[in-house]
Amino acid sequence: MVRRYGALVAIVGGVLVAAWSIHASATRADDDKKAAQKDEDAEKKATPKKIAMKMFMRKKLESSQSVLEGLAVEDFELIAKGARQLKTTSAAAEFMVVHDPMYAQHADEFRRIVDKMEKAAKEKRLDGATLAYVDMTLSCVECHKYVRNVLIARQ
Ligand code: HEC
Repeated sequence: MVRRYGALVAIVGGVLVAAWSIHASATRADDDKKAAQKDEDAEKKATPKKIAMKMFMRKKLESSQSVLEGLAVEDFELIAKGARQLKTTSAAAEFMVVHDPMYAQHADEFRRIVDKMEKAAKEKRLDGATLAYVDMTLSCVECHKYVRNVLIARQ
């Protein structure tokens, strides 16, 4: 099982690297310019709070990927572990954010769903955990919509 998975990853990885190198040589000059501009833009706005928030969110993304892997291979321990990481990370990220009641509501909803996902994993209910994963994805998107449309617009 693990070996087959490894071979698949190697093949997909190989194809991606090949595609990337063709693309990269064609567009490198363009990308360099764009990257420089992006760095400048980011530097203007980057505050320690924002950097920390980004780190927490990257961590959330990683943990949610472990959950997806756990669901795909029916590894309940991996699902539960991802859920626990998501809970700690979102609790930490909470301190970073302005006190906004709607934001707090989104964060509560997220936690509630992650709890549900962890519970389903502990009880070895694959469908329940998968549904919770879908709910969680919606909750990521809803909170981000709110942040983009309301919080950032207000700044
Ligand atoms: C309660 C609100 C909330 C929830 C739920 C939430 N996020 Fe975020 N997320 C934010 C905020 C706030 C930012 C930072 C926006 C900004 O300042 O640009 C962010 C930014 C991000 C970023 C961009 C980081 C970067 O490098 O710029 C990623 C990736 C991300 N979140 C992933 C996730 C994932 C995956 C989930 C769900 C598993 C999730 N988030 C759930 C509030 C949330």
